[in-house]
Amino acid sequence: MRILSGIQPSGILHVGNYFGMMRPSIQLQDQGEAFYFIADYHSMTSLYDATQRREYTRQVAIDFLACGLDPKKAVLFKQSDVPEHVELSWILSTICPMGLLERCHSYKDKVSKGLSANHGLFAYPVLMAADILIYEADRVPVGRDQKQHVEVTRDLALKFNQTYGETFKLPEPQFREGAETIIGLDGQKMSKSYNNTVEIFGAEKATRKRLMGIVMDSRTREEPKPDAEENRAIQLIKHVASAEQYQDEVEKLKAGGYGYGDLKKRLFELYWEYFRPARERREALLNNLDYVDQVLADGAEKAREIARPVNQRARVACGLA
Ligand code: TRP
Repeated sequence: MRILSGIQPSGILHVGNYFGMMRPSIQLQDQGEAFYFIADYHSMTSLYDATQRREYTRQVAIDFLACGLDPKKAVLFKQSDVPEHVELSWILSTICPMGLLERCHSYKDKVSKGLSANHGLFAYPVLMAADILIYEADRVPVGRDQKQHVEVTRDLALKFNQTYGETFKLPEPQFREGAETIIGLDGQKMSKSYNNTVEIFGAEKATRKRLMGIVMDSRTREEPKPDAEENRAIQLIKHVASAEQYQDEVEKLKAGGYGYGDLKKRLFELYWEYFRPARERREALLNNLDYVDQVLADGAEKAREIARPVNQRARVACGLA
């Protein structure tokens, strides 16, 4: 079974990225042949700073390795190291009906959030289809927000096969359950564009301050809180605590005499512990950037071995070769 997923290097990775994309991907590395890439071509639709793109790309690699991606099991690479993605994207764009892209929610959402309505942003799903089809991926673990893009991928594969003969295999989306429930500091979905994130590897003091700043309701410390499971802080605790630790916090809130300040302090402690081993691995990686670059170079070579012949098959099918 071949598994494929991508993550954009468009900012510092946060806890929403971790629980939504990175952790499930790392868990899957034992279950098949996994290919994970840093979608730097895609990041060009929202980030226009070359230095930042270079920096974020390397940071994603470092953070992924720190969090447990094992390059002996999973292939980690940078999308633009495999330029065949772009050629296939062009090929697919020529059989892609405009209406298919016009129906994509993500384009409309991004434009309404202020991203410029350019062709790259519009064609984003076609590049994503190329990413998926070029590895003949069986499984594409994605968050619900990407469901439509995987459907577009299936449509494009079908259309290409009908036009030029059987060439591509249809991928199955695999939705990461729970991925959409990572709540940010303001109660909305955690997302860079809402400025409500908690970084995975933020500095201690800044992170404590950020977590202590979560706005809660105005009940006093003494009051019992029968709806203890509902607030923002406990929802974050749920991800970084064991079941017992979580239950313990819920009960303390319900009993009364335990305030939101206490809860948020505990949230920080649990968060800090949860990411401690990854933080230590990350420190080591930061002192060994040559290793990180080597992982990406090796990954690109392995990825290209798969991507090149599939792209060539498409070139032959449509008469480019
Ligand atoms: N669009 C995805 C996101 O923003 C990233 C991505 C690009 C991707 N290409 C992909 C994910 C191919 C899965 C498969 O989350």
